[in-house]
Amino acid sequence: MNLKLLKSKNLRGQVIIPGDKSISHRSIILSSIAEGTSEISGFLKGEDCLATINAFKKMGVKIEDEGKKIYVHGVGLHGLKKPIEDLDLGNSGTSMRLLAGLLSGQKFSSTLIGDSSLSSRPMKRILEPLQKMGASIFTKDNTAPLTIKATNKMSGISYELPIASAQVKSCILLAGLYADSNTQVIENHLTRDHTEKMFKKFGIEIDEIFENSKKIIKIYPPQKLNPSHITIPGDFSSASFFIVAGLIIPNSEIILKNVGINSSRTALLKVLIEMGANIKMNNIKDDYEKTADIEIKSSNLEAIVLDEELVPNLIDELPILFIAAAFASGKTIIRGVEELKTKESDRLEAMSSSLGILGVEIKTYSDGIDINGKSSLNSSVTIDSFGDHRIAMASSIACSMLDGENIIKNIENIQTSFPKFTETCSSLGIKAESF
Ligand code: S3P
Repeated sequence: MNLKLLKSKNLRGQVIIPGDKSISHRSIILSSIAEGTSEISGFLKGEDCLATINAFKKMGVKIEDEGKKIYVHGVGLHGLKKPIEDLDLGNSGTSMRLLAGLLSGQKFSSTLIGDSSLSSRPMKRILEPLQKMGASIFTKDNTAPLTIKATNKMSGISYELPIASAQVKSCILLAGLYADSNTQVIENHLTRDHTEKMFKKFGIEIDEIFENSKKIIKIYPPQKLNPSHITIPGDFSSASFFIVAGLIIPNSEIILKNVGINSSRTALLKVLIEMGANIKMNNIKDDYEKTADIEIKSSNLEAIVLDEELVPNLIDELPILFIAAAFASGKTIIRGVEELKTKESDRLEAMSSSLGILGVEIKTYSDGIDINGKSSLNSSVTIDSFGDHRIAMASSIACSMLDGENIIKNIENIQTSFPKFTETCSSLGIKAESF
């Protein structure tokens, strides 16, 4: 499937952004091993999170989809059953890395598989700590499929994360639920803390100690998890495409309702405000995760030098930040983003290709990019998504600024995180049509 985009102006209206992908995964994982029924509202029914649901169904968990609510009948910490087939996690790195942690502590074996993109993503980052904990987990060339053998004993470890990764942190913490002693993860750069927040919601004892810029997370193996009621906020990463659209498309004034604004996720806001963005947060609520209605008005953006320290807190928003930079005056300098190469595609390469086709003057480096904003842009372009949802969506927003008929090819992957992307574009006034 492809997406056709025409030049858009005057975005108007309010939209509800679909549920947070990271939180949706975690809600299913913990409800499945709680004792009793959990109720989840606002769950993201994108392919990635559905892959997590299917994996738990294959391990004997009854999960009922009643439209607005999902009911998960948890089987307890030790109640999962050996799946009779491989667990296919599709395109979802979060499912694979988090489940690898949880399954390392089970008394049955399992195999985790994924699509070609997921099968080429690095898994050594989780193998190392899990093997230290006593897991019997095997791969060929440190990539999926992952084969996990039944484990008799997992031990707690103290592990300093060599890369800033919430997936690796969460993988270790989930394995730690099955360890015979406490587990401690040390972060030198704070990454998204949805796992820590969700652990608390299910009654797991967890300490978070902040020392200068470090964070130490300690968990104590629980006897059981209590079921919970979880309301999932809108996904900030999905909102980010429309935040930037509202800023760069002339005469726009839009509101994105009920978006998660957890500070470990929203560094993009800080950067855009530094670039001159007119963004306001209204109706801020602080449940276990903070939410707000985000109001955006068209703004004249200025280039910046990105503070590398912020990278872990805007990692998924970098493709759309590149687009914001393309429409800002001056040269934006971005470094320290080599992790982009390990995502659903090599996002540094994919976005460089996309920006090149748009006509944006760029210079790429092994760990970043310089983007000259307000270059004279091409019209009637065709851009490939590289099979990556965020490349497809970021490029779409850029194309809504160009003359002519612009095409994004192979947009199927948008289904992984934002199934109603095209409809949301249309309801705000972005001229987008799939074909
Ligand atoms: C995620 C963590 C991030 C992010 C991904 C979701 C999570 O990955 O890019 O989309 O839910 O924990 P890394 O841990 O690889 O940085």
